Amino acid sequence: MARRVHVELGERSYDIVIGRNIRIGTVLKQTGATGGLLVSDSNIDPVHGDACQAGLESIGLKVARLVIPAGEQSKSMTSLCRIYDRALELGLDRFSFMVALGGGMIGDLVGFAAATYMRGIALAQVPTSMLAMVDSSVGGKTGVNLEQGKNLVGSFYQPVEVAVDLALLETLPEREFVSGLAEVVKYGVIDDFELFELIEANVDGVLQRSGKLLEQIVARCCEIKAGIVSEDEREGGRRAILNFGHTFGHALENAEGYGRLLHGEALAVGMVYAAELSAWECGLPVDQKERRSKLLRSLGLPVSPADAGMTWNMLREKMTADKKTRASVPRFVLAEGIGSVIIGRTVSEEVLAEAFEVLVCRA
Ligand SMILES: NC(=O)c1ccc[n+]([C@@H]2O[C@H](COP(=O)([O-])OP(=O)(O)OC[C@H]3O[C@@H](n4cnc5c(N)ncnc54)[C@H](O)[C@@H]3O)[C@@H](O)[C@H]2O)c1
Repeated sequence: MARRVHVELGERSYDIVIGRNIRIGTVLKQTGATGGLLVSDSNIDPVHGDACQAGLESIGLKVARLVIPAGEQSKSMTSLCRIYDRALELGLDRFSFMVALGGGMIGDLVGFAAATYMRGIALAQVPTSMLAMVDSSVGGKTGVNLEQGKNLVGSFYQPVEVAVDLALLETLPEREFVSGLAEVVKYGVIDDFELFELIEANVDGVLQRSGKLLEQIVARCCEIKAGIVSEDEREGGRRAILNFGHTFGHALENAEGYGRLLHGEALAVGMVYAAELSAWECGLPVDQKERRSKLLRSLGLPVSPADAGMTWNMLREKMTADKKTRASVPRFVLAEGIGSVIIGRTVSEEVLAEAFEVLVCRA
């Protein structure tokens, strides 16, 4: 039996359905839509495109396919225009739909295309990566990158349904799967100690992608994200706790060069850095700080910058460019303990640099 997690957002509410080999498109069908576009990337379409299309067609939804080259560089205005062109060629109108079958790249890109095509058409998210299942497919953040930076153009646009089919993970490369686990650990740290302990006690099972365990973990992450998004859809307040580890993580991802370090890998290092700051600034107990690093390490995630030549000055400069930075002063989400986080905290330059030195020594 599939699990269901409700995202309460008034008239924009929807359900996330989590299971194996689940049906896709039932809510799209209820919108009265008959035709649409299924967009995927060049790694995912060959392995999951046919089944997804067949599933949609089996309930009477006519659907054409479009394949975008895999990789973050495709989250671009060029790809966006390709989607609009294809939709127009097919004669899609205001009552048509789009399905995003893919990881966060496809989810963000197709989400933004659906948000803007004919001023907004129905969207279904079918996440295929671990990161997309527990994070990016839920909550409505969509967008594309510009040459000047990541996610600089976008909108909040909620899907009408999210179908999390865990069977799709079977083809996800190991490194991508492990990278997505960093987001899972993040939920444990910011909101749910039981989840943290569940992962800690079952590292092997998690890495083997064990059936029921994985379902339980993914469902819990979706519940946490759904709760946060329901409370603060547009990140005016509490939703910012989801940025735990991101200030440093984004700077590192950028400094190392996008693609060299996957998002979750950079996030893992960012969480270790945030924990270090939290110990200095708000009394996060040392044993809790160490437990986090140990868990990330045991999952195969990095806890220190990969590039041995990385200097504090390089990273500090990248932090200034972060969207959360105001007047060159970076802001952090810090933790007093599991489930108790502080948003928008500034930290002295000395502590920022000291915490970096501690991180480098862990390498
Ligand atoms: N909207 C949000 O709230 C949000 C949150 C976090 C991240 N993001 C965005 O998500 C993106 C990163 O997402 P991602 O890590 O999923 O990257 P991705 O979509 O690029 O997928 C990673 C790689 O895995 C492949 N892949 C995915 N699923 C597969 C499967 N089942 N089988 C085989 N290969 C598969 C992809 O082709 C790609 O090569 C970034 O653009 C980031 O900005 C968005």
